[in-house]
Amino acid sequence: MKVSIIGQGYVGLTISIFASSVHDVVGFDTNQTIVDDLNRGVSHIEGVDGALLTQRIAEKHFRATSDPKDVSDSEIVVIAVPTPLSKDRKPDLRFVEAACQTIGRNLTKSALIINESTSFPGTLRNFIKPLIEKYSDHALDHSYAISPERVDPGRQDFNQKNTPRLYAGLTPEASKRTRAFYSSFCDNLVEVSSPEVAEAAKLFENTFRQVNIALVNEFAQITHALGISVHETLEAANTKPYGFMKFTPSAGVGGHCIPVDPTYLATTAEELGIPATFIRHANDVNRSMAKYVVQRIIKDNGGSIKGKKVNIVGVAYKPNVADVRETAAELVIDECRAKGANVTWHDELVKEWNGEKSSSLSGAEISIVITKHDYLTSELIKASAPYVFDSTGRVQGVKGF
Ligand SMILES: NC(=O)c1ccc[n+]([C@@H]2O[C@H](COP(=O)([O-])OP(=O)(O)OC[C@H]3O[C@@H](n4cnc5c(N)ncnc54)[C@H](O)[C@@H]3O)[C@@H](O)[C@H]2O)c1
Repeated sequence: MKVSIIGQGYVGLTISIFASSVHDVVGFDTNQTIVDDLNRGVSHIEGVDGALLTQRIAEKHFRATSDPKDVSDSEIVVIAVPTPLSKDRKPDLRFVEAACQTIGRNLTKSALIINESTSFPGTLRNFIKPLIEKYSDHALDHSYAISPERVDPGRQDFNQKNTPRLYAGLTPEASKRTRAFYSSFCDNLVEVSSPEVAEAAKLFENTFRQVNIALVNEFAQITHALGISVHETLEAANTKPYGFMKFTPSAGVGGHCIPVDPTYLATTAEELGIPATFIRHANDVNRSMAKYVVQRIIKDNGGSIKGKKVNIVGVAYKPNVADVRETAAELVIDECRAKGANVTWHDELVKEWNGEKSSSLSGAEISIVITKHDYLTSELIKASAPYVFDSTGRVQGVKGF
């Protein structure tokens, strides 16, 4: 089948590589640099191998494009564009709207349109379908389905093939075609009764993590005040063989999902007149962790970090990736600068970020570890500054949670 995948980022490129093992895939992206790199076999996503990309291109099973006309004769179109928050931290569907415009204006035959972008329940039925119909110049009868993405970039044990995939069509026929499409490269498909169930399940998965991370972040503050180790206490609780799941404290949550998706659920709840107390509070706790960490460091350093040379170690939002979206490092840097510190950061995977370059690992008076990539050994980190605060719990013998 000819498949077009709108958006060639973490989700879209990953799915392109799996789908192009059995289908002819066109990867459409508005970013020309990404398109050019992909067509040269250069992957910008961890976990997507350049050699495999080159092989798919050589077999003529994959090509990237920025020309919307290239999606015209697709049988299946997958939407994988960002669904961020706006500046005032509200759901922002403008990329989905732009994708609908591309699809509506350019498809010349009826297709199955599947949304993989995360959004609130009702997005497929009440936003995507009407928009594609609005922009469509042709009297076409498209089918619509949702299959929320669960990819965890950089993860080795679970991938597109072995991670169970939820799906639902707006019609039984759309569900059937969606199953046929994904079962060509995914082992475990789980049909649910409506797109809204699939959309809500995806939001709840990430909200569950956000709330539990906030709970353990609050707990870390309590154990510190009690003078006991949060990590030892969590290990003790984790010996219970049922009814407990261990989460670990951090300087906050990052990435495209955990800090963002719960706000989509909270907004839906509030529109329905239900106060999203847990979700909003969890978000506030996680976002306040940067302040808490900096306060702890100030206390340890004689009450002020004004004028001190502070280096933030690891600014990606999680280990061994270069993704800085919504990283907690940004809030920690802002807080340190607000307190008058002279702040640099070190991350050999990120290299350049916010117009600044990665600095050397050592040479500062204070190192604050936000993300411990594998190349950042405990020995290197400990030797990096006279005072080290580790927010990851992975460096022994220094200050931290
Ligand atoms: N990254 C993850 O781990 C992950 C996991 C599960 C779900 N999701 C969800 O998947 C969706 C995509 O996330 P992502 O991480 O792949 O984003 P991303 O930022 O990595 O990639 C999105 C790509 O879409 C392109 N784009 C933007 N507007 C476009 C348009 N109108 N037409 C074509 N391309 C366009 C961008 O240039 C970019 O390359 C989001 O809804 C996200 O919440 C992400």
